[in-house]
Amino acid sequence: MKIAMIASEAIPFAKTGGLADVLGTLSTALEPLGHHITLILPAYRCTLRSDFPLRQLPFKLSVALADRTEDATVLQTVIGKRIDVYLIRADRYFDREFLYGTAVEDYPDNAERFTFFNRAALEILRAYPVDVVHAHDWQAALAIVFLKTQGARYPEIAAAKTLLTIHNLGFQGLFEQSKWQLLNLDDSFFAPQYLEFYGRINFLKGGLVFADKLTTVSPAYAQEIMTPEQGFGLEDVVRQRADDLIGILNGVDYNQWNPWADPYLTPHHGVNNRSVKRNSKTHLRQMLDLPDRSATPVIAMISRLTSQKGFDLVTTIFDRLMQREVQFALLGSGEPQFEEFFRTAATRYPGRVAVRIGFDERLAHRIEAGADLFLMPSLYEPCGLNQMYSLKYGTIPIVRAVGGLKDTVEDYDPATESGTGFVFEAYDAQALLDAIDRGLAAFHDKPAWSALRRRAMAMDFSWDRSAQAYSNLYQQLLS
Ligand code: ADP
Ligand code: GLC
Repeated sequence: MKIAMIASEAIPFAKTGGLADVLGTLSTALEPLGHHITLILPAYRCTLRSDFPLRQLPFKLSVALADRTEDATVLQTVIGKRIDVYLIRADRYFDREFLYGTAVEDYPDNAERFTFFNRAALEILRAYPVDVVHAHDWQAALAIVFLKTQGARYPEIAAAKTLLTIHNLGFQGLFEQSKWQLLNLDDSFFAPQYLEFYGRINFLKGGLVFADKLTTVSPAYAQEIMTPEQGFGLEDVVRQRADDLIGILNGVDYNQWNPWADPYLTPHHGVNNRSVKRNSKTHLRQMLDLPDRSATPVIAMISRLTSQKGFDLVTTIFDRLMQREVQFALLGSGEPQFEEFFRTAATRYPGRVAVRIGFDERLAHRIEAGADLFLMPSLYEPCGLNQMYSLKYGTIPIVRAVGGLKDTVEDYDPATESGTGFVFEAYDAQALLDAIDRGLAAFHDKPAWSALRRRAMAMDFSWDRSAQAYSNLYQQLLS
């Protein structure tokens, strides 16, 4: 089968979060199942400046936008064995410092940038037709809308089946009605049963309405997005499509995230051995200027600093957490008030709190390897990848029972010697602190801790199973 993935980020080209990991690794996991995968992405500045061997294709795309056309060129490269990657190059839209905007605000022309991107992606597919168009999140949802409502413009792929994967319903691509003319859609589609959302344009909603099938990234999240608490106003739209929606858990690329062979680690520590963990911890402490206190556990977070990730809870309990014998390491960037909070925390607790604001792949791996406990107290979490990475490194996750966290971490029970982490239910600061305290108590019970780490490291969330589930779904779409 020929499948085109359309998305706004994918490793190794551009990444702000888990979406990129999933696109890169799902594509490579589908290839051995016999599919021909095409990946279509914007050519951002970070990609243009990297040293990928990018080949410019010998044609220009003419993309309809409002009442004009905009040109783009296409850069091509290959990942995996023969996954064709097409990067749409239009420097006025994508040659910018960030993908979507600064920490403070989105780029004001995002409606235009991503309308353009979707039209351009379909133009590429006219030249390289596929059986299935698989779009991801709001940034790629319009490709499905355009294909389904304007098939005559794209005759070469008008019969293609469409799949939309929701990685995060909290981001919908909401724009003022004044942007409508950019889309070149009939005005009848600016209506509540299609793309209108309380007087504004909602790109994701368009995809939810028009896609042949929908997936999201964990079974639990597939249920949660049908509720008012987690539907972000789209719960009714999702519920109407319930028969066409399934949750497929993301996988982990164990070539990248694997203590036995981590490309960013020396020495490797692929055994459940306290001294090996201790070495990684020592390295991490050196990197972070934390004193080497052998009996003190390191609690870590690597995250976008947003409310989604439970930072309200973390900031609420922070001083009480610091009354415990712990060191705390955070790598992340995002909302200014959280960046400020953690910068200040690092100065208030010197030698105990290490904070790195920014995006740092190498440090992320070092933290997974060197920390003892990993915090993910998310308000909501479609899947979450770091808890799965943590398990493999024997870095015990403390998570809230929500979305993919609930699907991947089992609560520790000392009575039955079962479980792989510490799970709490209510979105509540005290509940988080109690879970941390349970984690700290277990940490000091050496035999139990060692057994817990062994169970965690034995968990296997490799992509094979999930890729097979997507493959079955493509098959179903075409039959
Ligand atoms: P989300 O996509 O909601 O941000 P996920 O857990 O699915 O959450 O994926 C986050 C990914 O981004 C992980 O691979 C994580 O290691 C990475 N990541 C997040 N923040 C940083 C950072 N500051 N530096 C390096 N990697 C980061
Ligand atoms: C989103 C979600 C995250 C998920 C990722 C990849 O960014 O917030 O939970 O793991 O997409 O699907």
